[in-house]
Amino acid sequence: MDLIIRRAVLPRSAAPATEFTEPVDIGIDAGRIVAVQPRLAATAAEEIDAAGALVTPPFVDPHFHMDATLSYGLPRVNASGTLLEGIALWGELKPELTQQALIDRALDYCDWAVARGLLAIRSHVDVCDPRLLAVEALVEVKRRVAPYLDLQLVAFPQDGVLRSPGAFDNLKRAISMGVDVVGGIPHFERTMSDGAASVRLLCEFAAEKGLRVDMHCDESDDPMSRHIETLAAETHRLGLHGRVTGSHLTSMHSMDNYYVSKLLPLIREAGVAAIANPLINITLQGRSDTYPKRRGMTRVPEMMAAGINVAFGHDCVMDPWYSLGSGDMLEVAHMGLHVAQMTGLDAMHACFDAVTVNPARILGLEGYGIAPGCAANLVVLDARDPVEAIRLRAGRTAVVSRGKVVSRAPAARATLSLEGRPAHVDFKLRRG
Ligand code: FE2
Repeated sequence: MDLIIRRAVLPRSAAPATEFTEPVDIGIDAGRIVAVQPRLAATAAEEIDAAGALVTPPFVDPHFHMDATLSYGLPRVNASGTLLEGIALWGELKPELTQQALIDRALDYCDWAVARGLLAIRSHVDVCDPRLLAVEALVEVKRRVAPYLDLQLVAFPQDGVLRSPGAFDNLKRAISMGVDVVGGIPHFERTMSDGAASVRLLCEFAAEKGLRVDMHCDESDDPMSRHIETLAAETHRLGLHGRVTGSHLTSMHSMDNYYVSKLLPLIREAGVAAIANPLINITLQGRSDTYPKRRGMTRVPEMMAAGINVAFGHDCVMDPWYSLGSGDMLEVAHMGLHVAQMTGLDAMHACFDAVTVNPARILGLEGYGIAPGCAANLVVLDARDPVEAIRLRAGRTAVVSRGKVVSRAPAARATLSLEGRPAHVDFKLRRG
């Protein structure tokens, strides 16, 4: 074998091999997991002793903007902190963009991502610039990172597919250039009816081409922004079940409860997935409120309870919309857990799933998981379980991509101490 990770604790849901309640050894050969069992007798060219630490399939970010990332301050900073000023600021930056700068920033971000065990990213790419510079750049980045990172691209008409002249033609060109998914932004079209028409147009195009759909949808505090209803209905009408995602859905935070009680079964029936972006929703939404000030994130636990696949996305890192961020999906899960008040034990595990298995389903990743036959993409965390990983935003002591160790970091947990004892000692033990 090429690699064995010994004494690995597996997360509940990411591992089909969850019959193992004690640590297991994971054997890897030729880029695939070939064995998962306690005390594997075989040896390998390289071995990692996880020593009871959590080993998980990689983090997956289902919603990102790689064309804008790491552009913070160019040409200026978003003063109001609103979505609309961010869109205006991006419009100021677009004419200044060069393909090389786009590629350099995206590759820098991919390095950050890999070091944090983030090995699959769905990135929207703006198609409203007729030069399609960003599309060309990210298609090139996708090709360059393919040996170690799955980058899926969404053709995103930032200024509205109907509102922005030529946007639909640009979107179709982007798809022919290698972009994977059809995007949209119905709440940014001129009217509600234009928004609904944009959803129909884009879903019909996706159905004709056999593509997935992922729309920015209802990123607003307006409870009457109900494009998710049209998205679910069109998905159902066109038989796109399981291939469509609504991103943000923040208006649902402000909707009437009765309406939501009708809406969630429609989303479930259509097999539409949902993506919340906690870091961005908590900072961009509620900006018109005084107090009480709405959180603005969509109804995550309620959608999960309704059987809808819900994931968390990072959305932005150091760009016109968000000045912070680090490519760490545990930071995203941590914020999501707090904003959604998902503090129960099962709920905290569900937040870990929202940055691992759930987005992997949205992207349609092949061979995701920890079982024989799965792709050998794994992260060794400096934590014992998913809850501790979120609580500590635990370090990634080893990242394995396509069967190769691509990043390593020392375990901080082993060097910290409290009163002379290791910091990770259970309180129960400390009292004893
Ligand atoms: Fe976004």
